[in-house]
Amino acid sequence: MGEQLTLQLLVVKFGKKVVGVKLGILGLGTVGTGTVQLLQDTTGRHPLLQEIEIYRVGVRSPDKLRNVELPAGVVTTDLEAIVNDPQVDIVVEVMGGLEPARSLILQAIKNGKHVVTANKAAIARFGNEIFTSANQAGVYVLLEAAVGGGIPVIQPLKQSLSVNRIHTVTGIVNGTTNYILTRMQQEGSNFEDVLADAQRLGYAEADPTADVDGLDAGDKIAILASLAFGGRIHLEDVYCEGIRQVSKTDIAYAEKLGFVIKLLAIAKLHAQDTSKLSVRVHPTLLPKAHPLASINGVYNAILVEGEPIGQVMFFGPGAGAGATASAVTSDILNLVATLKTETASTAKPNPLLACRHQDYCQIAPIAELVTRFYTRFLTKDQSGVIGKLGTCFGNYGVSLESVVQTGFQGELAEIVVVTHDVKEGDFRQALTEIRNLEAIDSIPSLLRVL
Ligand SMILES: NC(=O)c1ccc[n+]([C@@H]2O[C@H](COP(=O)([O-])OP(=O)(O)OC[C@H]3O[C@@H](n4cnc5c(N)ncnc54)[C@H](OP(=O)(O)O)[C@@H]3O)[C@@H](O)[C@H]2O)c1
Repeated sequence: MGEQLTLQLLVVKFGKKVVGVKLGILGLGTVGTGTVQLLQDTTGRHPLLQEIEIYRVGVRSPDKLRNVELPAGVVTTDLEAIVNDPQVDIVVEVMGGLEPARSLILQAIKNGKHVVTANKAAIARFGNEIFTSANQAGVYVLLEAAVGGGIPVIQPLKQSLSVNRIHTVTGIVNGTTNYILTRMQQEGSNFEDVLADAQRLGYAEADPTADVDGLDAGDKIAILASLAFGGRIHLEDVYCEGIRQVSKTDIAYAEKLGFVIKLLAIAKLHAQDTSKLSVRVHPTLLPKAHPLASINGVYNAILVEGEPIGQVMFFGPGAGAGATASAVTSDILNLVATLKTETASTAKPNPLLACRHQDYCQIAPIAELVTRFYTRFLTKDQSGVIGKLGTCFGNYGVSLESVVQTGFQGELAEIVVVTHDVKEGDFRQALTEIRNLEAIDSIPSLLRVL
């Protein structure tokens, strides 16, 4: 491999002559292995791939059995040596986690190396530090695989769609939760049962917190919002609610009312004040005719809406070795092309590749969100309960789209309410009053409706 690659490419990078483009890959797990396999099998793919050398690969356990063969001396446990090696042109961080990934990325940047990463967790938390350093060092940090796995959405937001005024990005960006919700809907099963099965089948982690509590989707929508709206995002401003409280009962009622329930990650210009954004993750009742309603299983999709483009939807595999390898390697290729064409005299950052924003977006608190709600009440079987609910809602300006008494659970009557658009803060105040009504036993579910 090394012989075939040497002397094929002569480029000038920051005034320094580089022969071939040497990769230092940090991590050889799912994404790293897929990337190496793709780079080792270049027939029928872009010819520039042949100019890439897998120079070093960093792992934790060098004796682990792997699905790839690499020449002796390539695999190492010394990841710091990789990011400090003057021979390495591009560092590909596919090890995951926060540390040492963050420090290694920063060190690579400091050493003038371009970086490709799939690490949404590190970018969502340390993006400010990482992109500021990259801009100062005149290098690029590309992250196509960090959101939507194999789906090209980062580069389209940076380039093809960047002339639009984006007003909404709505995504199904977590395959595990979409798989769980799809099976709950198709089989009428409980969350716990499907989660246990998903863990057994390898679709959910042993610790599913990041996925089922919406945190992974939160990292991803922070990244997408940042690109779509041209500002950095404080991760703590992203409202995250997961799918643990979604019950098969609600899925069945939603279905009857013409909805499916999906975990949506949404970044949207604020309805009243377009200087603010609403950035949030929560299970959502989605009308069956909505383009995202038919995205099932582990698939991901991202709907981008803006002016003048209208709606554009990106759909595809959100995870897996091949899918992520496609995204990671496309970033590598972009950098190889850059290294090949840049000369010392023209080496100014390409604004379509670099991170162009430095200020933070202003995020509206969730209480300011204007949305519809679906709520399920369990009430004592008394007359006039629906009237009392209506009065409490009316006191806070909440108007109701539908109220259905759906049946009984034991002694208790079950009432499902869908509101018109309402300010979340007002809706919550009404619920506080409703909770105090003598006729109300409990409010088992509360979900937003798109
Ligand atoms: N899996 C996906 O489908 C997917 C999709 C999109 C994005 N991503 C992102 O891609 C990244 C990698 O994910 P993955 O699924 O490929 O992870 P993975 O299978 O767990 O692989 C991680 C790799 O990094 C190495 N590693 C981790 N910590 C290390 C350390 N401290 N020192 C040395 N080596 C270390 C591991 O070495 P050993 O092999 O020796 O243990 C392993 O090869 C993550 O940021 C993830 O969020 C993954």
